[in-house]
Amino acid sequence: MRQQWFDEARFGMFVHFGLYSAAARHEWVQNYERLTDEDYRQYFEHFDPDRFDAGALARQAKRAGMGYVVLTTKHHEGFALWDTALSDFDSVTACGRDLVREYVDALRAEGLRVGFYHSVIDWHHPDFTVDWNHPRRGDADVAALNAGRDMDRYRAFLHGQVRELLTGYGPIDYLFFDFTYPHDRDGLAGKGPEDWDAEGLLALCRSLQPQMLVNDRLGIPADFVTPEQYQPTSPLMRDGRPLVWEACQTMNGAWGYDRDNDDQKPVDLLVRMLVDSVSMDGNMLLNIGPDGRGAIAPRDCAALDEIGEWMQLHRDAVVGAGHAPFAPPREGVYTQRGDRLYLHLFTWPLGFVHLAGLAGKVTYARFLHDGSWLRTSVADPDQVADLMTPEGEPEGTLTVHLPVARPDVVLPVIELTLAD
Ligand code: GLC
Repeated sequence: MRQQWFDEARFGMFVHFGLYSAAARHEWVQNYERLTDEDYRQYFEHFDPDRFDAGALARQAKRAGMGYVVLTTKHHEGFALWDTALSDFDSVTACGRDLVREYVDALRAEGLRVGFYHSVIDWHHPDFTVDWNHPRRGDADVAALNAGRDMDRYRAFLHGQVRELLTGYGPIDYLFFDFTYPHDRDGLAGKGPEDWDAEGLLALCRSLQPQMLVNDRLGIPADFVTPEQYQPTSPLMRDGRPLVWEACQTMNGAWGYDRDNDDQKPVDLLVRMLVDSVSMDGNMLLNIGPDGRGAIAPRDCAALDEIGEWMQLHRDAVVGAGHAPFAPPREGVYTQRGDRLYLHLFTWPLGFVHLAGLAGKVTYARFLHDGSWLRTSVADPDQVADLMTPEGEPEGTLTVHLPVARPDVVLPVIELTLAD
């Protein structure tokens, strides 16, 4: 069961950090603005992550209740955050630090699982052909640009860098490859699994790190799937079998530090997204984009602190929990861990919440945040709605009685102990 730790953890931190963090206007800036290597070079020359503190990052993740962290070892820009022997477009050349080493050591010190994100795209490498996704796609003569480029050499480089990452840093728990776009567009080619030698790359992962989980973005199936910036609406299945999945989500729509972007998601939405994922047997990987100096932006710190406060009281409804085989009431979603069923109340009803099919199945009900007992009753289906009598609920409904005042937590959770 390679993915057991992953299924249990449910909540992880994504960290996008690179030269684009200093550009501070989206990690795709080079592509969006069609910057040349020379244009982009200034971010390399001035790369100065003096506030990149891997220990602080690991502690922040742990405080937020996350079980693992995933760092961009290299994003599409091609800049390596580790001491690669295969290029000098790396953090050791730029600032004398192997940030991947610092990161791995810090995570292990906090007992967190270690994840890498690695882009198979590389806009810096001279052998990576210009495709419709490339910053140079709009140049007058793309064919001429591609004339000397040799994807065989690029593939050797890609595999070589992955080998470095999987041999130089001890056991790695998780690898998020990004990404494959096999279709053509605007008269230009995309890149598919064969461009990466996806089979060979996955085989390399299996041989070097047999316990490591690998995602499916090489364009071939592997261990888990990664819905990006949206929430599924039911547990994900393929050919009648459940898929292991993880929704990756941003704080504000960008992955890299995007200074002027104010689309920050409110904390209550982020917490709902987390429990919504767990209710469908999925994980949530929540991203932060450290700023140009490597510090976690204050707005992200504040959100993580608030999530952490909630997680401290509600951890049991998330970590080790998953989908429950009951239809939830209209006010929220269920998660389940062993004999505990958790009702996450997205909206706060007046006085009661009615739980279909749970009459006789619950021995105890309480709020999770303060452990306070909640009265329950079984509805009488023969009752009819009358002046001051609530409408009779269907046979088998369990009614939980609630205070009028909504508890002062980001998301109230009712814990129901199930009879065996
Ligand atoms: C993408 C984007 C990207 C981001 C990633 C995270 O496909 O290219 O910038 O790193 O997904 O899932």
